[in-house]
Amino acid sequence: MSAIPRKVRRRRYPGELVVEQTRNAKLVDAMIAAAGVTIAEIGSADDCFLAAFEGDDPVGIAGLATEVDAALLFILFVVPGRRRRGVGARLLAGVREAAQARGVRRLYAVALESSVDFFWRSGFASVNQSEMVETFSWTSTWPQTGCGSQGYSVLRTDLSA
Ligand SMILES: CC(C)(COP(=O)(O)OP(=O)(O)OC[C@H]1O[C@@H](n2cnc3c(N)ncnc32)[C@H](O)[C@@H]1OP(=O)(O)O)[C@@H](O)C(=O)NCCC(=O)NCCS
Repeated sequence: MSAIPRKVRRRRYPGELVVEQTRNAKLVDAMIAAAGVTIAEIGSADDCFLAAFEGDDPVGIAGLATEVDAALLFILFVVPGRRRRGVGARLLAGVREAAQARGVRRLYAVALESSVDFFWRSGFASVNQSEMVETFSWTSTWPQTGCGSQGYSVLRTDLSA
């Protein structure tokens, strides 16, 4: 008997907020473009993307790159019309779970100045950019790319507790 690949599609309900890991490159690219971010030198097979959906509408994206016991949340974005409704918090909860499942102890994030408060409220503290570059050498080309074109801060939270 030959195996027939099955296409599994999660059923989504109108208005329901769902966060799930995605390998849909078109969706990821569209959300990154919507965020206005240029992400260079990211795209390793180890990168993990989480997408948030309200019903069938994609409303947010998070991207996580892992390096041994540290991970960098290099993008966290909620589409403007859907903010302040808990989407960002749900994505961040999914990111923490994904990071912990990968053995991550230190979770770093890059944030636009307008989002720094969100991270402070979520248990992150600001750190020097050099700490990020030491841990994730591929970020050494920033600030020309990444969130850098818009000016960003680096934050860290401890997941080992
Ligand atoms: C930061 C961001 C992810 C927050 O998403 P969100 O869905 O609006 O956040 P939530 O609704 O889950 O908010 C969670 C909490 O943080 C607070 N909060 C949200 N955004 C905030 C902000 N910019 N400043 C301060 N507090 C904020 C909310 O009031 C809420 O507090 P509460 O729990 O006391 O009610 C979103 O505003 C965003 O995408 N901003 C643009 C980021 C961007 O451009 N990223 C691309 C470059 S990396």
